[in-house]
Amino acid sequence: MSITPLNAKQQQQYAEQGFLVLEKAVPGTEINALKSAALEIVEKFDINKQRTVFSTRDRDSGRDDYFFNSAENIHCFLEEDALAANGELLKPAELAINKIGHAMHDLDPVFNSFCRLPLFAQVLRDIGYQRPQLWQTMYIFKQPEIGGEVRWHQDASYLISDPPSVTGIWVAVEDAHKGNACLWVQPGGHRSPLREIYQVDWDKRKGTLTELDNTPWPDVHEAVAVEVPAGSVVLFDNLMPHYSSQNLSEHSRHAFTMHVASADADWSAENWLQRPTLGPFDL
Ligand code: FE2
Repeated sequence: MSITPLNAKQQQQYAEQGFLVLEKAVPGTEINALKSAALEIVEKFDINKQRTVFSTRDRDSGRDDYFFNSAENIHCFLEEDALAANGELLKPAELAINKIGHAMHDLDPVFNSFCRLPLFAQVLRDIGYQRPQLWQTMYIFKQPEIGGEVRWHQDASYLISDPPSVTGIWVAVEDAHKGNACLWVQPGGHRSPLREIYQVDWDKRKGTLTELDNTPWPDVHEAVAVEVPAGSVVLFDNLMPHYSSQNLSEHSRHAFTMHVASADADWSAENWLQRPTLGPFDL
Protein backbone atom coordinates (compact mmCIF):
# COMPACT_ATOMS: atom_id res chain seq x y z
CA MET A 1 0.00 0.00 0.00
CA SER A 2 1.40 3.39 -0.90
CA ILE A 3 1.46 5.86 1.96
CA THR A 4 0.80 9.46 1.22
CA PRO A 5 1.54 11.66 4.20
CA LEU A 6 -1.06 14.25 5.02
CA ASN A 7 -0.46 17.44 3.07
CA ALA A 8 -0.40 20.87 4.70
CA LYS A 9 -4.02 21.53 3.79
CA GLN A 10 -5.17 18.31 5.44
CA GLN A 11 -3.12 19.04 8.55
CA GLN A 12 -4.62 22.52 8.73
CA GLN A 13 -8.11 21.13 8.19
CA TYR A 14 -7.64 18.65 11.04
CA ALA A 15 -6.38 21.38 13.37
CA GLU A 16 -9.27 23.71 12.51
CA GLN A 17 -12.16 21.27 12.23
CA GLY A 18 -11.11 18.58 14.71
CA PHE A 19 -11.74 15.80 12.22
CA LEU A 20 -10.43 14.68 8.85
CA VAL A 21 -11.74 12.23 6.27
CA LEU A 22 -9.31 10.16 4.19
CA GLU A 23 -11.55 8.66 1.58
CA LYS A 24 -10.86 5.02 0.63
CA ALA A 25 -7.45 5.12 2.31
CA VAL A 26 -7.42 1.39 3.12
CA PRO A 27 -7.55 -1.21 0.30
CA GLY A 28 -10.56 -3.52 0.04
CA THR A 29 -8.43 -6.63 0.68
CA GLU A 30 -7.44 -5.34 4.13
CA ILE A 31 -11.00 -4.31 4.93
CA ASN A 32 -12.38 -7.70 3.89
CA ALA A 33 -9.78 -9.55 5.98
CA LEU A 34 -10.76 -7.48 9.03
CA LYS A 35 -14.45 -8.13 8.49
CA SER A 36 -13.88 -11.89 8.17
CA ALA A 37 -11.80 -11.90 11.35
CA ALA A 38 -14.58 -10.07 13.21
CA LEU A 39 -17.21 -12.52 11.99
CA GLU A 40 -14.98 -15.41 13.06
CA ILE A 41 -14.81 -14.00 16.59
CA VAL A 42 -18.60 -13.76 16.65
CA GLU A 43 -18.92 -17.32 15.37
CA LYS A 44 -16.83 -18.55 18.31
CA PHE A 45 -18.75 -16.43 20.83
CA ASP A 46 -20.69 -18.67 23.19
CA ILE A 47 -23.59 -16.83 24.78
CA ASN A 48 -24.04 -19.70 27.24
CA LYS A 49 -20.66 -19.00 28.83
CA GLN A 50 -21.63 -15.37 29.34
CA ARG A 51 -25.27 -15.89 30.23
CA THR A 52 -25.01 -14.27 33.67
CA VAL A 53 -23.29 -11.22 32.20
CA PHE A 54 -26.24 -10.46 30.02
CA SER A 55 -29.10 -11.75 32.13
CA THR A 56 -31.18 -9.27 34.10
CA ARG A 57 -30.13 -10.95 37.35
CA ASP A 58 -26.86 -9.52 38.69
CA ARG A 59 -26.78 -7.27 35.65
CA ASP A 60 -24.69 -4.40 36.98
CA SER A 61 -21.69 -6.03 38.62
CA GLY A 62 -21.51 -8.84 36.06
CA ARG A 63 -21.63 -6.37 33.20
CA ASP A 64 -19.10 -4.03 34.81
CA ASP A 65 -16.59 -6.85 35.29
CA TYR A 66 -17.11 -8.14 31.76
CA PHE A 67 -16.56 -4.60 30.49
CA PHE A 68 -13.47 -3.83 32.63
CA ASN A 69 -11.91 -7.20 31.76
CA SER A 70 -12.36 -6.52 28.05
CA ALA A 71 -9.45 -4.04 28.26
CA GLU A 72 -7.08 -7.00 27.91
CA ASN A 73 -9.37 -9.49 26.18
CA ILE A 74 -11.63 -9.93 23.19
CA HIS A 75 -15.21 -9.65 24.40
CA CYS A 76 -18.46 -9.54 22.46
CA PHE A 77 -21.13 -7.11 23.69
CA LEU A 78 -24.80 -7.60 22.85
CA GLU A 79 -27.31 -5.10 21.55
CA GLU A 80 -29.84 -4.02 24.19
CA ASP A 81 -32.76 -5.38 22.19
CA ALA A 82 -31.13 -8.70 21.35
CA LEU A 83 -32.02 -10.60 24.50
CA ALA A 84 -35.42 -11.79 25.70
CA ALA A 85 -36.40 -11.55 29.39
CA ASN A 86 -35.57 -15.24 29.78
CA GLY A 87 -32.01 -14.64 28.58
CA GLU A 88 -32.47 -16.19 25.14
CA LEU A 89 -31.09 -14.48 22.07
CA LEU A 90 -33.84 -13.07 19.86
CA LYS A 91 -31.58 -12.95 16.79
CA PRO A 92 -28.74 -15.07 15.46
CA ALA A 93 -25.48 -14.06 17.19
CA GLU A 94 -24.04 -12.44 14.07
CA LEU A 95 -27.01 -10.05 14.10
CA ALA A 96 -27.15 -9.57 17.88
CA ILE A 97 -23.65 -8.35 18.68
CA ASN A 98 -23.27 -4.61 19.21
CA LYS A 99 -19.47 -4.59 19.26
CA ILE A 100 -16.27 -6.50 19.94
CA GLY A 101 -13.61 -4.97 22.20
CA HIS A 102 -11.02 -3.99 23.27
CA ALA A 103 -7.68 -5.79 22.80
CA MET A 104 -8.00 -7.39 19.36
CA HIS A 105 -4.87 -5.53 18.28
CA ASP A 106 -2.87 -7.59 20.78
CA LEU A 107 -4.68 -10.90 20.63
CA ASP A 108 -5.93 -11.43 17.07
CA PRO A 109 -3.29 -11.65 14.32
CA VAL A 110 -5.51 -10.16 11.61
CA PHE A 111 -6.45 -7.19 13.76
CA ASN A 112 -2.82 -6.83 14.80
CA SER A 113 -1.64 -6.64 11.17
CA PHE A 114 -4.40 -4.21 10.30
CA CYS A 115 -3.42 -1.81 13.09
CA ARG A 116 0.19 -2.06 12.02
CA LEU A 117 -0.54 -0.87 8.46
CA PRO A 118 2.05 1.91 7.95
CA LEU A 119 -0.74 4.31 7.00
CA PHE A 120 -1.90 4.69 10.60
CA ALA A 121 1.54 5.26 12.13
CA GLN A 122 2.32 7.79 9.39
CA VAL A 123 -0.92 9.71 9.73
CA LEU A 124 -0.50 9.92 13.51
CA ARG A 125 2.95 11.41 13.09
CA ASP A 126 1.55 13.84 10.53
CA ILE A 127 -0.89 15.19 13.12
CA GLY A 128 1.85 15.62 15.69
CA TYR A 129 2.43 12.37 17.58
CA GLN A 130 6.00 11.38 18.29
CA ARG A 131 5.24 8.25 20.31
CA PRO A 132 1.66 7.10 19.65
CA GLN A 133 0.38 4.12 21.61
CA LEU A 134 -2.72 2.13 20.76
CA TRP A 135 -4.93 1.66 23.83
CA GLN A 136 -8.12 0.14 22.49
CA THR A 137 -9.75 -1.30 19.42
CA MET A 138 -13.44 -1.81 18.79
CA TYR A 139 -15.31 -3.49 15.97
CA ILE A 140 -18.78 -1.95 15.78
CA PHE A 141 -21.57 -3.74 13.93
CA LYS A 142 -24.40 -1.19 13.99
CA GLN A 143 -26.80 -4.00 13.20
CA PRO A 144 -29.77 -3.56 10.87
CA GLU A 145 -32.98 -2.63 12.69
CA ILE A 146 -31.60 -3.01 16.23
CA GLY A 147 -28.23 -1.21 16.09
CA GLY A 148 -28.68 1.18 19.02
CA GLU A 149 -28.11 4.92 19.20
CA VAL A 150 -24.75 6.16 20.51
CA ARG A 151 -25.62 9.45 22.18
CA TRP A 152 -23.51 12.60 21.81
CA HIS A 153 -20.24 12.23 23.69
CA GLN A 154 -16.54 13.11 23.63
CA ASP A 155 -14.04 10.27 23.76
CA ALA A 156 -11.88 12.20 26.26
CA SER A 157 -14.63 11.48 28.81
CA TYR A 158 -13.89 7.77 28.66
CA LEU A 159 -10.15 7.77 27.87
CA ILE A 160 -8.48 10.23 30.21
CA SER A 161 -4.89 11.33 29.65
CA ASP A 162 -3.01 14.33 30.99
CA PRO A 163 -2.57 16.37 28.90
CA PRO A 164 -5.50 15.17 26.73
CA SER A 165 -3.77 13.30 23.91
CA VAL A 166 -6.26 10.76 22.60
CA THR A 167 -7.17 10.53 18.92
CA GLY A 168 -9.85 8.32 17.44
CA ILE A 169 -9.21 6.57 14.15
CA TRP A 170 -12.53 5.43 12.71
CA VAL A 171 -12.44 3.09 9.71
CA ALA A 172 -15.51 2.38 7.58
CA VAL A 173 -15.68 -1.38 7.00
CA GLU A 174 -18.93 -0.90 5.09
CA ASP A 175 -20.31 2.17 3.31
CA ALA A 176 -21.65 4.61 5.91
CA HIS A 177 -24.43 7.06 5.10
CA LYS A 178 -27.41 8.72 6.77
CA GLY A 179 -29.61 5.78 5.83
CA ASN A 180 -27.61 3.28 7.90
CA ALA A 181 -26.80 5.59 10.81
CA CYS A 182 -23.40 7.02 9.96
CA LEU A 183 -21.25 9.04 12.33
CA TRP A 184 -22.15 12.71 12.95
CA VAL A 185 -19.62 15.26 14.16
CA GLN A 186 -19.62 18.96 15.01
CA PRO A 187 -16.96 20.73 12.93
CA GLY A 188 -14.83 22.83 15.28
CA GLY A 189 -16.49 21.17 18.28
CA HIS A 190 -13.11 20.00 19.55
CA ARG A 191 -12.69 23.51 20.97
CA SER A 192 -15.66 23.03 23.28
CA PRO A 193 -15.09 22.02 26.89
CA LEU A 194 -15.07 18.46 28.17
CA ARG A 195 -18.63 17.97 29.37
CA GLU A 196 -18.41 14.67 31.27
CA ILE A 197 -15.86 12.36 32.81
CA TYR A 198 -16.12 8.63 33.49
CA GLN A 199 -13.90 7.51 36.38
CA VAL A 200 -13.58 4.17 38.09
CA ASP A 201 -13.19 3.63 41.82
CA TRP A 202 -11.15 0.41 41.68
CA ASP A 203 -11.73 -0.43 45.36
CA LYS A 204 -15.42 -0.69 44.58
CA ARG A 205 -14.90 -1.68 40.91
CA LYS A 206 -17.53 0.91 40.07
CA GLY A 207 -17.50 3.54 37.32
CA THR A 208 -19.25 6.91 37.62
CA LEU A 209 -20.05 9.43 34.90
CA THR A 210 -19.86 12.99 36.26
CA GLU A 211 -20.91 16.21 34.53
CA LEU A 212 -18.06 18.73 34.30
CA ASP A 213 -19.60 21.38 32.08
CA ASN A 214 -23.18 22.05 31.00
CA THR A 215 -22.40 23.26 27.47
CA PRO A 216 -25.25 21.79 25.38
CA TRP A 217 -24.59 19.06 22.83
CA PRO A 218 -24.79 20.26 19.20
CA ASP A 219 -28.08 20.86 17.43
CA VAL A 220 -28.70 18.97 14.20
CA HIS A 221 -27.89 22.08 12.14
CA GLU A 222 -24.46 22.38 13.80
CA ALA A 223 -23.55 18.78 13.01
CA VAL A 224 -22.45 17.12 9.78
CA ALA A 225 -23.03 13.54 8.67
CA VAL A 226 -19.78 11.75 7.82
CA GLU A 227 -20.97 9.82 4.78
CA VAL A 228 -18.06 7.76 3.48
CA PRO A 229 -17.45 4.65 1.37
CA ALA A 230 -15.93 1.50 2.85
CA GLY A 231 -12.17 1.78 3.36
CA SER A 232 -12.35 5.42 4.39
CA VAL A 233 -10.59 6.62 7.53
CA VAL A 234 -11.88 9.38 9.77
CA LEU A 235 -9.56 10.92 12.35
CA PHE A 236 -11.09 12.80 15.20
CA ASP A 237 -9.91 14.75 18.19
CA ASN A 238 -10.80 13.47 21.67
CA LEU A 239 -12.88 16.57 22.42
CA MET A 240 -14.89 16.30 19.18
CA PRO A 241 -18.58 15.72 20.03
CA HIS A 242 -19.89 12.81 17.93
CA TYR A 243 -23.04 10.76 17.69
CA SER A 244 -24.85 8.11 15.68
CA SER A 245 -28.55 7.33 15.59
CA GLN A 246 -30.21 3.95 15.85
CA ASN A 247 -29.84 2.01 12.61
CA LEU A 248 -33.41 1.49 11.47
CA SER A 249 -32.39 0.36 7.98
CA GLU A 250 -32.06 -3.18 6.66
CA HIS A 251 -28.31 -2.76 6.24
CA SER A 252 -25.54 -3.04 8.79
CA ARG A 253 -22.87 -0.38 9.09
CA HIS A 254 -19.68 -2.06 10.29
CA ALA A 255 -16.84 0.15 11.50
CA PHE A 256 -13.54 -0.37 13.25
CA THR A 257 -12.07 2.11 15.69
CA MET A 258 -8.65 2.56 17.23
CA HIS A 259 -7.89 4.97 20.06
CA VAL A 260 -4.34 6.12 20.55
CA ALA A 261 -2.66 8.33 23.14
CA SER A 262 0.76 9.86 23.43
CA ALA A 263 3.28 7.85 25.44
CA ASP A 264 4.45 11.18 26.85
CA ALA A 265 1.09 11.90 28.50
CA ASP A 266 -0.05 10.40 31.81
CA TRP A 267 -2.73 7.72 31.53
CA SER A 268 -5.17 8.20 34.40
CA ALA A 269 -5.35 5.44 37.03
CA GLU A 270 -9.09 6.17 37.09
CA ASN A 271 -9.53 5.16 33.46
CA TRP A 272 -11.74 2.12 33.01
CA LEU A 273 -9.19 0.82 30.49
CA GLN A 274 -5.95 -0.43 32.03
CA ARG A 275 -3.38 -2.75 30.47
CA PRO A 276 -1.27 -4.09 33.37
CA THR A 277 -0.63 -7.41 31.65
CA LEU A 278 -0.44 -6.53 27.97
CA GLY A 279 1.55 -3.32 28.44
CA PRO A 280 2.05 -0.59 25.84
CA PHE A 281 1.32 -1.15 22.16
CA ASP A 282 3.57 1.24 20.24
CA LEU A 283 2.56 2.34 16.76
FE1 FE2 B 1 -16.83 7.77 20.61
